[in-house]
Amino acid sequence: MNNVNPSVNKWPVSSRIFHWISAILLLVTWILMLLYQNMDEKVYIGLHKAFGISLLCWMIARVLNRVLTKSPPAALMPKWQFVMSKLSHFGLYALLIAMPMAGLLMTVYGGRPVDIFGLFQIPVFVTPDRTAARFYNDVHTDIIWPMIIAFTLLHISAALYHQFILKDKLINRMK
Ligand code: HEM
Ligand code: HEM
Repeated sequence: MNNVNPSVNKWPVSSRIFHWISAILLLVTWILMLLYQNMDEKVYIGLHKAFGISLLCWMIARVLNRVLTKSPPAALMPKWQFVMSKLSHFGLYALLIAMPMAGLLMTVYGGRPVDIFGLFQIPVFVTPDRTAARFYNDVHTDIIWPMIIAFTLLHISAALYHQFILKDKLINRMK
């Protein structure tokens, strides 16, 4: 049980790049929000939005890559862990797409375009509406964000469990 042969069961290189860049984009987007909350500098909220939209585009490309490339066979594990891993991976994909969409909708319903690194702007493509802006703000900060934290902690705990308790080198599949 729990034996994984990493050399034959590696994820395709494209999946590995998508995985680690998504994690970095999430970290950067979050750090920019922390900087904004602690320093109240406008530049950080602008960058938070631009990195968040970059993560949205990256995740859409990642889903396409996931569908178009062959995944390695699942590692051997009890059925409940297999089901949990599938559900939590699906949840992470869904949350990382829903989060920037909610951020974008909050902003445009608030009547503001989104500037992408000074290169171009996403225009206000809806009729501004305070109630809708507040709704998406709540979804962004009070619903999806706590879920991202919970799913990511679960994911990293599972990776640590494989690494240090099962010692099955699962992480090598994604390295
Ligand atoms: C996956 C991408 C994103 C993540 C992980 C993320 C995360 C966060 C977090 C943690 C907060 C602070 C919540 C709190 O008050 O505790 C926040 C606030 C905010 N986010 Fe995002 N965000 C993302 C994408 C976006 C995008 C794409 C936009 C807009 C285009 C955006 C606009 C905002 C705004 C305007 C706030 C401030 C809300 C307020 O002050 O009430 N976010 N975001
Ligand atoms: C220290 C940080 C992390 C480690 C060690 C890690 C490790 C891994 C490993 C080993 C796998 C492959 C599992 C398998 O082969 O069955 C995986 C898959 C995955 N990881 Fe991570 N991960 C980390 C951070 C993240 C973050 C921050 C996210 C997003 C929030 C994320 C999202 C995913 C998703 C969605 C999959 C499933 C891939 C698929 O089925 O297409 N990971 N991770």
